[in-house]
Amino acid sequence: MLNKQFVALAAFLASSLLSPTNALPLDASIEARAPACDHWVDTWTSMPQLTEPANLPNPPFNQTGSVFVNSTIRQTLHMSIGGPQIRIRLSNAFGATQLNITAVTVALPYNNSAGQSIIETNTLQTVTFSGNNSIIIPDGSLAVSDPIHFPINPQSELAVSIYLAGGQLGNSITSHPGSRTTSFYQFGNAVSAANLTDASVQSVAHWYFLSAIEVWSPPQARGFAIVGDSITDGRGSTTNANNRWPDLVLARMQKNPSTKDIGVLNQAAGGNRILADGLGPNALGRIDRDVLAQSGIKYSMIFEGVNDIGTADSTTAAQDFVYNQLIQAYEQIITRIHTFGIPIFGATITPFSAPNSTIQAYSTPEREVTRQRVNQWIRTSGKFDAVLDFDKVVRSSANQSMLQDQYNSGDYLHPSPAGYQAIADSFDLNLFNRFAGGVSSYM
Ligand SMILES: *[C@@H]1O[C@H](CO)[C@@H](O)[C@H](O)[C@H]1NC(C)=O
Ligand SMILES: *[C@@H]1O[C@H](CO)[C@@H](O)[C@H](O)[C@H]1NC(C)=O
Ligand SMILES: *[C@@H]1O[C@H](CO)[C@@H](O)[C@H](O)[C@H]1NC(C)=O
Ligand SMILES: *[C@@H]1O[C@H](CO)[C@@H](O)[C@H](O)[C@H]1NC(C)=O
Ligand SMILES: *[C@@H]1O[C@H](CO)[C@@H](O)[C@H](O)[C@H]1NC(C)=O
Ligand SMILES: *[C@@H]1O[C@H](CO)[C@@H](O)[C@H](O)[C@H]1NC(C)=O
Ligand SMILES: *[C@@H]1O[C@H](CO)[C@@H](O)[C@H](O)[C@H]1NC(C)=O
Ligand SMILES: *[C@@H]1O[C@H](CO)[C@@H](O)[C@H](O)[C@H]1NC(C)=O
Repeated sequence: MLNKQFVALAAFLASSLLSPTNALPLDASIEARAPACDHWVDTWTSMPQLTEPANLPNPPFNQTGSVFVNSTIRQTLHMSIGGPQIRIRLSNAFGATQLNITAVTVALPYNNSAGQSIIETNTLQTVTFSGNNSIIIPDGSLAVSDPIHFPINPQSELAVSIYLAGGQLGNSITSHPGSRTTSFYQFGNAVSAANLTDASVQSVAHWYFLSAIEVWSPPQARGFAIVGDSITDGRGSTTNANNRWPDLVLARMQKNPSTKDIGVLNQAAGGNRILADGLGPNALGRIDRDVLAQSGIKYSMIFEGVNDIGTADSTTAAQDFVYNQLIQAYEQIITRIHTFGIPIFGATITPFSAPNSTIQAYSTPEREVTRQRVNQWIRTSGKFDAVLDFDKVVRSSANQSMLQDQYNSGDYLHPSPAGYQAIADSFDLNLFNRFAGGVSSYM
């Protein structure tokens, strides 16, 4: 629709032989939809959430009334697209008090691999905020660093080290527990140290405070935000191997000239639901922050709903209720994302039936009925701009309510690495060309 209007407008302007001054609105219109100049695009994100008590760092880094006092946290992140300069976003979205960041550095990790505590010190750079090494981030807010001339390659690893002299007051801090990547922390300011070797050092597979890395990108570069739950967050994938399904789609996109400038942005969290908080904020409530407020987003998708179905009572009434709520919520999300001309793809919910409900608590015939009804709506309503039928990819041909054996990580809900690879292989990369012009907001 937009495309047609645009072609008509261009034809009209061309045929009217307008002066360069009169032609300006056309240039402005081109720029609004496809910036003619370089711009910031996310190359990595992690969904910020309030850290549950069990996912706070272990004592002594967690104390009554403060977290990470006099602590350096070193974390590695898997970049999607590359570029000559980056910026770092630090989030205090869920902190109850201001977050005083004392010092931050970036470097390449040893061996260009994830989960390293060692950095290549010849690549080390200090990160600043308006020229200052420190910044105070109010509660509920975030900080964007100054641009850093730090060239990164597609699919490479980045090490970010953060020092908090005073820690953060209270025990409410922002993090992303499902990092599938090992982070390290120790006492003292070690942001420039080759390795974290203090006697106090600990490691854990969580990310703290980091919410995005942006990269300075050519005009055609764009971001693709994926809203999801633990299946997208990579539960069942291999720690430090970056084999969540979005990482595996990224690897395919990097081999394809028409998709190699698209950042793949994982905005998923374990246990996340569309309709209610629990493990992380509900998806309806986080769309603004996790999709619309991110840099350079031109595509989006949602692959979520299994935890809404699985945590609703297994009665016909409760399942009817959650079905209706989910459909209304998908439509709300579609409406809000379309407001920005961004297409949104919908993925079908993958199977979770098991031989018994001891091994998979979600597994009941009533919930399977809801899954089938939701998937039917996703496939046939025409509300999503495109459908990614992940259910069809991983379900067993012998019993369509269950995962295929080789795609079952063991809990009958989360796919195995082979299942994640099958999902990635099924992803239709042509969608990115098909929706390069965006969508009309009247949808
Ligand atoms: C951290 O401290 C808080 C407050 O004392 C407590 O509720 C939580 O269980 C602690 N978590 C860890 C991992 O020590
Ligand atoms: C170096 O990276 C490779 C590939 O990512 C990995 O298999 C290997 O374990 C890493 N070596 C070390 C010492 O971390
Ligand atoms: C840098 O920020 C800190 C607070 O975060 C402040 O105390 C200091 O004065 C600032 N320095 C400069 C040069 O602005
Ligand atoms: C954060 O910085 C402010 C301003 O300097 C200071 O008042 C406050 O005590 C600091 N908080 C912590 C936890 O260090
Ligand atoms: C911070 O930790 C380092 C390393 O353990 C220690 O040497 C230093 O004294 C500590 N600083 C403060 C202010 O406690
Ligand atoms: C680097 O630090 C880690 C964590 O303290 C330690 O396990 C490892 O042995 C150190 N490696 C080297 C080469 O010093
Ligand atoms: C499919 O699997 C579910 C869960 O194991 C079971 O309840 C159901 O009877 C199976 N259906 C068929 C047709 O085998
Ligand atoms: C449930 O099914 C699993 C997988 O088949 C099996 O290992 C386990 O023994 C079963 N548990 C019960 C209580 O039947």
